[in-house]
Amino acid sequence: MSGIERVCEFLDAAQTYYLATVEGDQPRVRPFGTILLYNGRLYIETGKVKNVSKQLAANPKAEICAFNGGKWLRVAGELIDDADRAVKVAMLEKMPSLKAMYDPDDGNMQMLYFKNATATFSSFTEAPETFEF
Ligand SMILES: Cc1cc2nc3c(=O)[nH]c(=O)nc-3n(C[C@H](O)[C@H](O)[C@H](O)COP(=O)(O)O)c2cc1C
Repeated sequence: MSGIERVCEFLDAAQTYYLATVEGDQPRVRPFGTILLYNGRLYIETGKVKNVSKQLAANPKAEICAFNGGKWLRVAGELIDDADRAVKVAMLEKMPSLKAMYDPDDGNMQMLYFKNATATFSSFTEAPETFEF
């Protein structure tokens, strides 16, 4: 399994990760759960109306962190908007509960993928493992 596949599998299993963005000199963090591996890119989903979306539009630098099964994962990089409708459809197919809140054509649903990403798996017992994508 490739590094990006392992990252997606870990985030699927963890169910919740925490997404940090930057607003001026203030870090902002919140829980997220959406994750999709599509055409070799790792995507998250949000709504354009949210502050998180506005922060990423002003500064795409972001980091996510999740903990599961004695290991934690951090992915640092940039989150880039992708307006491709097919990615939105794929996200809604993977996580159908999102359909209660989002539609590919609602003007709000937003898919962002990691660019220049460094993913690090850590634990208290093993050496860190790093992947770039
Ligand atoms: C477990 C959990 C998972 C969540 N997943 C997402 C998600 O994938 N995308 C999203 O936009 N909001 C998600 N939310 C809601 C956001 O955390 C919430 O809207 C947050 O306030 C957004 O950050 P902001 O207020 O800085 O814009 C989730 C909330 C919880 C509790």
